Amino acid sequence: MIGITGANGQLGQLVIRGLLSAVPASQIVGLVRRPAEAQALHAMGVEVRMGDYDRPDTLKAALRGVDKLLLISAVQPGERLRQHRAVIDAAKQSGVTSIAYTSMLRADTSSMILAREHRETEAYLKQSGLEYVILRNGWYLENHTGLVGAAIANGAVIGSAGEGRFASATRADYAAAAVKVLSSAGHANQTYELAGDRAFSMTEFAAEISAQTAKHIGYTDLPPQDYAATLSTFGLPPMIIEVVIDADLKAQAGELDSTSSTLSELIGRKTTTLGEAIGAALRP
Ligand SMILES: NC(=O)c1ccc[n+]([C@@H]2O[C@H](COP(=O)([O-])OP(=O)(O)OC[C@H]3O[C@@H](n4cnc5c(N)ncnc54)[C@H](OP(=O)(O)O)[C@@H]3O)[C@@H](O)[C@H]2O)c1
Repeated sequence: MIGITGANGQLGQLVIRGLLSAVPASQIVGLVRRPAEAQALHAMGVEVRMGDYDRPDTLKAALRGVDKLLLISAVQPGERLRQHRAVIDAAKQSGVTSIAYTSMLRADTSSMILAREHRETEAYLKQSGLEYVILRNGWYLENHTGLVGAAIANGAVIGSAGEGRFASATRADYAAAAVKVLSSAGHANQTYELAGDRAFSMTEFAAEISAQTAKHIGYTDLPPQDYAATLSTFGLPPMIIEVVIDADLKAQAGELDSTSSTLSELIGRKTTTLGEAIGAALRP
């Protein structure tokens, strides 16, 4: 049986949808924090169990009969290592043999704020003695395409990334890689650096929006304190603003760029391009 944590989330649902073409629904169990919100998983015909990272008792019960587990990294910075450890501990106690974990690009060397908990989770997973697969996902293309509406409204993309390049890929592409790893052999104790085939700068991102909308959209690079002040007017919490600014500054230094083709090799096709993702975001 294959278990997926965070299964009500966007990545979790994409993974389960993809897995259904490789294994029977009876072999899939979605672990969720809120079973009452699992209508989409029920519609896919998979079993749903409560598995809350903050309630280890639910995790142990939810993992009964699961051999392979996809641990989708938790959401809240600062809480994640504790939450991931709880899942790994419960998996060991419940007889899970293999855990695939969604980490981040070059988590071992990255200086991004977000990297620390991923690095520590990877280390904890490796010393657990379980078979592991580390899926070091790059930035989501949706982090960028989520800004297309605001860019059109304001006539500009803003950020503090300078000409830093982002080798981003869609959630669907990362989900397809997870499906491959969960449904085929030969991935034991591998670490995969996963990224989009073609990196782009924020200037290129703005230019692609311009090209597809026939409106002039430029990229305005802001000093970090100005970008932080703008983000705070959107009501973002200070911790999230710190993470966003940190990511942009580290992107300037190349930390979200990559020439790895492992993602397209794993999924057996090219990754979704920036142009395709913007096109999808613009469709009504
Ligand atoms: N690479 C990137 O650019 C990037 C960007 C964003 C996130 N991420 C990482 O990738 C992960 C998956 O992304 P996503 O887009 O699927 O995120 P998402 O849609 O926000 O899904 C996260 C899921 O985690 C669940 N969750 C939160 N706290 C939990 C807890 N205590 N116990 C059990 N489940 C809990 C949420 O449950 P509810 O449905 O009950 O809220 C939600 O279903 C994120 O969690 C984050 O670690 C990466």
